[in-house]
Amino acid sequence: MLWATADLWPDLEEAVLIEASAAVRRVGEALATEAITARIAWLAGDVTIDLGELKPADLITCAYVLDEIAPASLPKLVDRLWQLTADTLLVVEPGTPAGWRRILAVRRQLIEAGAHILAPCPHEAPCPLAAPDWCHFSHRVARSRLHRLAKDADVPWEDEKFIYVAASRHPASSRAARVIAPPKSGSGKVLLKLCQKDGSAGEKLFTKRDGEMLKLARRLDWGDSI
Ligand SMILES: C[S@@+](CC[C@H](N)C(=O)[O-])C[C@H]1O[C@@H](n2cnc3c(N)ncnc32)[C@H](O)[C@@H]1O
Repeated sequence: MLWATADLWPDLEEAVLIEASAAVRRVGEALATEAITARIAWLAGDVTIDLGELKPADLITCAYVLDEIAPASLPKLVDRLWQLTADTLLVVEPGTPAGWRRILAVRRQLIEAGAHILAPCPHEAPCPLAAPDWCHFSHRVARSRLHRLAKDADVPWEDEKFIYVAASRHPASSRAARVIAPPKSGSGKVLLKLCQKDGSAGEKLFTKRDGEMLKLARRLDWGDSI
């Protein structure tokens, strides 16, 4: 997350990272020293009990961590993360049905606390998807040689499935339907599964009759908004 943040905001000034594992902190620190120019503080701690002394920050992130924490501790943790959020909170989990259910619970709790949902949902209504369906996205990431060795894998990439919720103290400046499945393209048409601003979700077919909208729909990928 630190690398993604620094990529997006090269003028990032300061980041505070909390990590329970000394080994992970050591590796993270060594990698960040070479690559990140912002002031970074690596704190040893358990996020379920050690966030009391922290100061609020513009962006609070919690990625691929909730699934390592006892479910009973999650509401208190989410509450504290939201208290620390001066502007935006981003929570990311693996794109599994269980990860989606955890994100749904976080989303409900944040809405009850007065948060505005920025993404992926273009609304604050209950999620329109029902099991066995679940909301998730996918991003193709390159595997380094070390990565391939660690996973005993041959292919130089993998499709990382994830689910997330981004919530803000401020309402979204605009809202647009989200593509929530891989687009299905055919000759002169494309079928998009969309989560809509009115809180509904379903497939929408764009054909030549839609003119410019078809051209726009064709350029969209899973996770984009329209
Ligand atoms: C799957 S990794 C994700 C790391 C990083 N957030 C990322 O997206 O690459 C989960 C990390 O959370 C740490 N972790 C798990 N439970 C924790 C807790 N209660 N307090 C602090 N760190 C914790 C683990 O040591 C592990 O390094």
